[in-house]
Amino acid sequence: MNIQTHYSLKNWNTFGVDQTAEAFVSVDSIDALKAALNHPDYSHHFILGGGSNLLLTQALKGLCIHINLKGIAVVQENENEVVVEAQAGENWHDFVCWTLAQGYGGLENLSLIPGNVGTAPIQNIGAYGVELKDVFAGCSALHRKDLRLQDFDLKQAAFGYRSSYFKTRGKDEYVICSVRFRLTKDKHRLATSYGAITTALGDTPPSPQSIAKAVIAIRQSKLPDPAVLGNSGSFFKNPVLSKNDFDTLYQRYPALPHYPQADGTVKVPAGWLIDTLGFKGKRQGDAGVHEHQALVLVNHGNASGKDILALAQEIQARVKTTFGIALEAEVNIL
Ligand code: EPU
Repeated sequence: MNIQTHYSLKNWNTFGVDQTAEAFVSVDSIDALKAALNHPDYSHHFILGGGSNLLLTQALKGLCIHINLKGIAVVQENENEVVVEAQAGENWHDFVCWTLAQGYGGLENLSLIPGNVGTAPIQNIGAYGVELKDVFAGCSALHRKDLRLQDFDLKQAAFGYRSSYFKTRGKDEYVICSVRFRLTKDKHRLATSYGAITTALGDTPPSPQSIAKAVIAIRQSKLPDPAVLGNSGSFFKNPVLSKNDFDTLYQRYPALPHYPQADGTVKVPAGWLIDTLGFKGKRQGDAGVHEHQALVLVNHGNASGKDILALAQEIQARVKTTFGIALEAEVNIL
């Protein structure tokens, strides 16, 4: 096992924050993963996927295990549908492109989301009207202590808005090794109701490929490319308010965009709240708020995790004072 000590994680997190791991190993098989979890010298482990939802504010203690399991295979097929299994270390967008190249539908709205396949279920990634749970057929995860592989179905994965069993009750208990997706070969279920998609499509007939193209264009126009400007996508979750709290706020802010939920609650865009407070494009040293999307915090170069956290905390305090809303971080802060 090739363990490296005092290892810089700067190139392993999309914020590009320079923090170290006490020890680091990349594993490309389940056996190597088990050996790493069983290593007698390290009792504390951190599981690293694509590093795209992570803010490192301190050095990591113990062994950082990078999941580098690779492979994509069709595991079930009938006339209209396929179930495709992807290993956790596959890059998410490359995997989406592979499904589109085969003519499979289902993942097009989730194009260009940074990160890897294995971490996608943890926060039930979602964009433009589709969430991972809509195409999830199951996943295989290794229990970190007893080292047994366990299968999770849709119900067991307990998906919610940017949440799952793996982020709540099962937090830090499992390593997701592979994920299965139910995709369409024909009669695609296309989600085009999101306004920006309708506009971007124009007269082009909707298909998995044309929707992916539209989503990529929208994302590229609004969201910074982590390879160019360090970031972790949306830093906060969109808050979900009770109907009463929403009504009170809406009276004061009639321009507030809002999305009524099936259970009577109302989701409001954190980006609008932050933007209204004038944070868009603001900088504190090298930590900043993106100029086109106030929900995205960015690293202009040499910001530390603590610099970015300080900016996030200032935003949280201002949103609380002005709107009475406690913004919850979406990014995993360590
Ligand atoms: N808005 C502003 N100012 C801003 C940003 C947004 O006024 O600076 C307003 C917009 O005008 C719009 C509303 O807020 O009315 C929603 O904005 P947008 O469509 O950009 O989406 P979002 O709610 O900010 C969510 C997801 C994104 C996902 C998009 C598209 C969360 C936390 N974020 O963002 O996911 O791509 O919808 O579906 O739910 C991510 O999770 O990392 C992520 C990028």
